[in-house]
Amino acid sequence: MTAVAVVGSQWGDEGKGKITDFLSKDAAYAVRANGGNNAGHTIEIDDKTFKMRLTPSGIFTAKSAVIGNGVVINPEVLLGELENLEANNIDTSKLKISNRAHVIMPYDILQDEYQEEVKGANKIGTTKNGIGPTYMDKASRIGIRVCDLLEKETLAEKLHANLTEKNDLFTKVYGKPALEFDEIFEQYYEYGQKLAQYVTDTSVLVNDALDRNENVLLEGAQGVMLDIDEGTYPFVTSSNTISGGIASGIGVGANRLQTVIGVCKAYTTRVGEGPFPTELLNATGDRIRDTAHEYGTVTGRPRRVGWFDSVALRHAKRVAGITALSLNLLDIFSGFDQIKVATAYELDGQTIDYYPASLKELDRCKPVYEELPAWNEDITGAKSWSDLPKNAQSFLKRISELVGVPLVTVSVGPERQQTIVLQDPWEL
Ligand code: GDP
Ligand code: IMO
Ligand code: MG
Repeated sequence: MTAVAVVGSQWGDEGKGKITDFLSKDAAYAVRANGGNNAGHTIEIDDKTFKMRLTPSGIFTAKSAVIGNGVVINPEVLLGELENLEANNIDTSKLKISNRAHVIMPYDILQDEYQEEVKGANKIGTTKNGIGPTYMDKASRIGIRVCDLLEKETLAEKLHANLTEKNDLFTKVYGKPALEFDEIFEQYYEYGQKLAQYVTDTSVLVNDALDRNENVLLEGAQGVMLDIDEGTYPFVTSSNTISGGIASGIGVGANRLQTVIGVCKAYTTRVGEGPFPTELLNATGDRIRDTAHEYGTVTGRPRRVGWFDSVALRHAKRVAGITALSLNLLDIFSGFDQIKVATAYELDGQTIDYYPASLKELDRCKPVYEELPAWNEDITGAKSWSDLPKNAQSFLKRISELVGVPLVTVSVGPERQQTIVLQDPWEL
């Protein structure tokens, strides 16, 4: 049995899609287990770019791809994505969708928008894809699951009940128009019919594969610092993005996860509001953003940029059980003089090495930086460790030392082949 989980170790967009695609050629199953189409996982294969929102990034090369029960599904987005993949000659018949996954309904998308509107300056900066309200529906036990889409009567009953509640909220609290039953019902029943061919109990499939000693790759969405429990709450997403969430999001025991790869950038980015101690609000930040094209895959928003934060990474390592690191976007620092890395925070005159829960405390934290020399060489063609300049090697060694886990891959460009393997994650 080998289950390798790929989790974002920062605030998302670390390059999980690229690494998942790279590793999935050796996987029997490539699985998405949390989040929804708030995710945008970019994969560059030859001259084509795919932005995966819901479909597992492993669909290109894994034998089978699975959307697990922890994912919230917007059927329209998923069907559009599958159509695009088919148009690019990717076999989508290998996709399986959990019958227990929850469905993002039109009222969830509107509720997300209205909640943000009401919060005004205190908004979360969500992707407005209805993620939070869908997980709210799930937690308050009114969610509509994929299996419900397939049963006409169940769908009608649940939709009726939910619309009564949501329409009350929309008209009486938010002062917005009510939604009509008929159109939503017909559309979502039709979506169910279109998706039915893929729907099954995916937990059984994945557990059986693990029992047969097959490789399973579990792809997390978002990042640890956006985790609903362990992230910078309330500026987080609404699911557990840590490896524990990935286990429950596919229905495998937590003890099945053998290796947890924390994916990180050589620096840090964040989209949306919320604390970001190492943020760079200067020309260096602009330079990183421009060089790396740091604009949101989903919303197109400019990503906030900052230095690598090893305090956040050690927090991520602890709460997500990270056993190995994949570092991406190393190429961005070619031509820089210095690279900074936060080694600790200073809070009210004390050096601390934990991630404060209180946002007020976090606000007062000042990163303690170490400076490392960068390099001038273009490294986008580097194929092995020895192809990297000494300073790049020293930077990588220091990151690994500060986080306390070995590096397994280093990425020097967005393309699949621009990946240096230091240790095979399937062999750990
Ligand atoms: P994800 O959400 O974690 O899958 O990451 P995103 O796809 O949202 O953002 C990562 C971005 O970095 C994408 O545009 C990738 O194509 C790009 N990328 C990934 N690895 C590298 C790398 O090593 N170098 C460069 N220059 N770009 C990379
Ligand atoms: P991937 O998988 C980066 C952020 C949003 C917002 C907060 C809550 O591509 O790394 P939500 O719509 O989830 O309620 O928004 O979380 N966010 C992400 N940021 N990458 C993502 O996914 C994200 N998914 C959500 O910007 O700050
Ligand atoms: Mg992304």
